[in-house]
Amino acid sequence: MDQVKIGRFIAQMRKEQGFTQRELAELLGISDKSVSKWECGNGMPDISLMLPICEILKINLNELFSGEKLTDADYKQKAEENMMKLIKEANSMKKNIVGGNVLGQSENVDKNPDIAHKTNTEFWDTIGSDFLGSTALPSWGGFLPSEDKLNLLGDLSGKRVLEIGCGNGHSLEYTASHGVTELWGLDISASQIARTREYLNTKKITANLICSPMENECGLPTNYFDVVYSVYGIGWSTDLDTTFKLINSYLKENGKFVFGWSHPIHKCVSIENGQLFFSNSYFNEEWYRADMSDKQIILSNRMLSTYINALARNGFVIEQFVEENDKDKAIAADSDFGRKSLMLPTAFVIKAHKE
Ligand SMILES: C[S@@+](CC[C@H](N)C(=O)[O-])C[C@H]1O[C@@H](n2cnc3c(N)ncnc32)[C@H](O)[C@@H]1O
Repeated sequence: MDQVKIGRFIAQMRKEQGFTQRELAELLGISDKSVSKWECGNGMPDISLMLPICEILKINLNELFSGEKLTDADYKQKAEENMMKLIKEANSMKKNIVGGNVLGQSENVDKNPDIAHKTNTEFWDTIGSDFLGSTALPSWGGFLPSEDKLNLLGDLSGKRVLEIGCGNGHSLEYTASHGVTELWGLDISASQIARTREYLNTKKITANLICSPMENECGLPTNYFDVVYSVYGIGWSTDLDTTFKLINSYLKENGKFVFGWSHPIHKCVSIENGQLFFSNSYFNEEWYRADMSDKQIILSNRMLSTYINALARNGFVIEQFVEENDKDKAIAADSDFGRKSLMLPTAFVIKAHKE
């Protein structure tokens, strides 16, 4: 909506009806500051005031949204344009959520893997160290029970292990401390790989680190790994089928694949003053660009069935699905994220093996 045009129109119609800003404000039961704010183009009247404003100014809603008087000939076209603008604005008001982060302004975008990779790489190059250790094993994400309790990776001693989206290397450190013989990490961000290398050096841990999108062939050995895992990594894939097919090829027969990500129901439900309400459709799998920590990311929402069916299509058998939360941890957090986690799953982990 063009707030400046609408503001000028409100001022013009107010004057035509012979009201001062204060008189209009009194009729609406609000302060004259609010009227002045709209007329200067700094904000729109609350939805509850729109019909009373139209009645007082002798205009209709379509004219208010258009910011001008309409002839009968214009009316239908303007009504449709205004409807589209309203739907677009309502969509951009929906908040997307990843992990414990409620993202800023979002807009839907066409799926374009190159643009997504570029945007996300810039994000992780710049912001990566802020996430130091917060999305790493033994946590699988949110308030899920920890790996120490779940033991999804099993006995790692003597195993060859690969992490997808290895971030700062904190999960690699965790698996290294469980006796693996070979440790590998893959990440799209060269800065994240450098941080991992530096971090593991300080811990005297050796790892093979590869900088590549997970969706690309990158020279990783095939039929080689006992375990591939990912903590808040897989959701960044722009192509789940190719990603799962490649991961399947890296694994030995019966090799395990375990990954955790934000639960899709979590991004559908908002919390305000302790009340939960649906603010997004579970079925919406559109790609969106959103503000996060003063940078931008591009992600898609996915349903659980999308992950599960992609695993099945690409040679995996699901062994375990975890979505329950650790209640004590959620209560102790004393945050909206924690309170939400008492009512619904905010993260999930899937354990699968190669057929
Ligand atoms: C939340 S972090 C993972 C943190 C990691 N689990 C740890 O222990 O530090 C997600 C990582 O996925 C990486 N990533 C994002 N998109 C990717 C892609 N398409 N292919 C590979 N890595 C990607 C990011 O660079 C980031 O380092």
